[in-house]
Amino acid sequence: MKFTQKPFIIIGSGIAGLYTAIKLSEKSDKEILIITKSDLRESNSRYAQGGIVGVLPENLEDSVELHVKDTLDAGAGLSDPDVAKFISEKSSDAVKDLIFYGVDFDKQPDEKIELTLEGAHSVNRILHSGGDATGRSIEIALSNLVENKPGIRIYKKTIAVDLLIDSENRCKGVIVFDKTTGEYEVIFSSAVIIATGGAGQVYSRTTNPRIATGDGIALAYRAGATVQNMEFIQFHPTALNFEENGSRFLISESVRGEGAILKTPDGEQFACKYDERGDLAPRDIVTRAIFFEMKENGYDHVILDTSKIPEEKLKARFPNIIKACEENGIDMLKGSIPVSPAAHYIMGGIKTSVRGETSLTGLYAVGEAACTSFHGANRLASNSLLECVVVANELAQLLTEKELLIPSQNNDCKINCLISEYEKNYFDYQPDVLEFVEKIRETMWENAGIIRHDAGLREALKTITELKLEFDRQYKCRNANEYDFRNLLAISELITKSAISRKESRGGHFREDFPETSLKAFNSFISKELNCGMFLCL
Ligand code: FAD
Ligand code: SIN
Repeated sequence: MKFTQKPFIIIGSGIAGLYTAIKLSEKSDKEILIITKSDLRESNSRYAQGGIVGVLPENLEDSVELHVKDTLDAGAGLSDPDVAKFISEKSSDAVKDLIFYGVDFDKQPDEKIELTLEGAHSVNRILHSGGDATGRSIEIALSNLVENKPGIRIYKKTIAVDLLIDSENRCKGVIVFDKTTGEYEVIFSSAVIIATGGAGQVYSRTTNPRIATGDGIALAYRAGATVQNMEFIQFHPTALNFEENGSRFLISESVRGEGAILKTPDGEQFACKYDERGDLAPRDIVTRAIFFEMKENGYDHVILDTSKIPEEKLKARFPNIIKACEENGIDMLKGSIPVSPAAHYIMGGIKTSVRGETSLTGLYAVGEAACTSFHGANRLASNSLLECVVVANELAQLLTEKELLIPSQNNDCKINCLISEYEKNYFDYQPDVLEFVEKIRETMWENAGIIRHDAGLREALKTITELKLEFDRQYKCRNANEYDFRNLLAISELITKSAISRKESRGGHFREDFPETSLKAFNSFISKELNCGMFLCL
C-alpha cells in the first residue's frame, strides 16, 4: 500500500471535473490530482449531443426570467428558484469561457451563434458544436488544456474506492485502486472533489456509458454525506432501439426541436393526446406517452419521423446521429428511426450548495453526481452541462479562498481501521459478478423504472437485499467489476427506498398507485445514519 499527499483531488474527468481542474489551476499554484476510472475522455460528457443552455444578451427573445421559469416548470416544484436564477445569470459568462478555452460552437451563415430548441424550452437557447457532438467538443477542448497544465497530474484507469473520513466526520482523502497494476494507494488531501457523473448503468436500458455506475454518490453516502432526491431519474424518450456495449445511442431531443415527429409503427401521431405541447413537452411526459403507447399496443418501439426536416439540414445538424443510425442499418435520411425510452440522467445525488459544498467538511461534489436543487424533479434539456461549468467555477473560487492544510498521515483510528480493510486478503468466495450486474439492471428497469408501484419497488428491494447478502463485499473487492457492482447495489437501494417513500407522482417519479402530485412539494434526504427516507417540507 502506497501513502501519498495531494492538496486537491478531483475524482472524475467529465466536464465538471476538467472544468474544476482548469479553474483551480488558474487560481492556485497547488498541485491538482485528477483520478479517472477509464481514459481521460471517457465520460457521460463526451456523449452529450443537444448542447448547452446559454441565455445570451444578443438573443432578444430570451431572458434569465424566462429560462428560470422553464427550468422551474420542468422541475415540477422541486427546483430552487434562487439556484436557477444564479446559474442562469452565469450562463452567458460560462459560454464566453468555453469559447476562450477553444470550444467552437456552431454558427449561422452571418457568423452569429446558432441556437436550437429542445423540449420545454420557450425559445431557442441551446448552443451546439460539431452539429450533434457538443459534449465531445467541450470534453476535447478541456482535456487538451488539462493535459498540458504542469500543475495537474492525472491517474488514468484508477478507481476511487473509499473516502477517508476521520473520527470527527471530516473527509481527509481517498483510497484508490489502479486497475492496471491492481495496487492500492491512500492519498491524503485537504479537498476531495467528487465529479463522478451519473448512474444510468443501474438500468438495463440506458444512454449512459459503462462508467456511469454512480460511484461518487455511493462513496459519499458510505462516508455519511447526505444525498437528496434519489428517486428522480430522467428517462430520455428517444434512444435508438438497439443495445451496444451496455448502452443505447441517444437520438437527441434537438431532432424533435428541428421538426421530427413521434409516430406509432402504424404511422399515428400520439404525443398531443398526452400534452398540448406534443412532441416537445417535458421529457417525463413524452417518455410516459411512448411507454403507454408501447405497452397498450404491444410495440417494441415507436418511430421518430424525420421526413419533414430538409436533407441538407439533417446532414449539417446531425452527422453523428446519421452515422450511428447507418451503423445499425438505418437510413435516417429516409425519415424513420426506431426509438424507445432509456434511463438518461439522475436528478438526485450528493446534496450540495451552488458552490459544491457537501454536508461533510473537506468533501465537495460537482456535476451530475451532485444535487444543487437546480433540476428539481425533472431536468430541462441542456441544463446539465451548464450546471457543471457554473458550479465548477464557483467551487474552484471557494477552494482558493479557503486556508486548506493537507492532513498529516494516519493518526486517526477510524481512518486506520478503514485502511486496514484494504490491506486484507480474503477472497475465498468469487461470485459471477457480471451475472449479478445484469440481474440488478433488469430488476431496476422492470420494477423501479418509468412507471412504479409499491409491489414492484418492494420486489426490487427484495432482489437488492438478496444480492447484498450473496455478494458480501463491504470494503475491498477483487477487481473493477466488483467495485462497479458494489456501487450499483448501493445506488439501486437508494433509488428504490426513496421511491417507496415518495407516495406521489412528480417529474421523473411516476407512481401508478399514487398518480396525483401532492399539494406540498418536498425534497427527500437520505443519510447513512438514518438509513431510511426522511422528507422535509419546503
Ligand atoms: P461525467 O461526464 O459522467 O464524468 C464522470 C467522470 O467520473 C468520468 O471521467 C468517469 O470515468 C469518472 N468516474 C466515475 N466513477 C469514478 C471512480 N470511482 N473513480 C474515478 N473516476 C470515476 N446534458 C446537457 O446539458 N446537454 C446535452 O446535450 C446532453 N446530452 C447527453 C447525451 C447523452 C448520451 C448522455 C448520456 C448525457 C447527456 N447529457 C446532456 C447529460 C450530461 O452529459 C451529463 O449530465 C454531464 O456530462 C455530466 O458531467 P460530469 O462531469 O458530472 O460527469
Ligand atoms: C439530448 O440531446 O436530447 C440530450 C440533451 C440533454 O440531456 O440535456
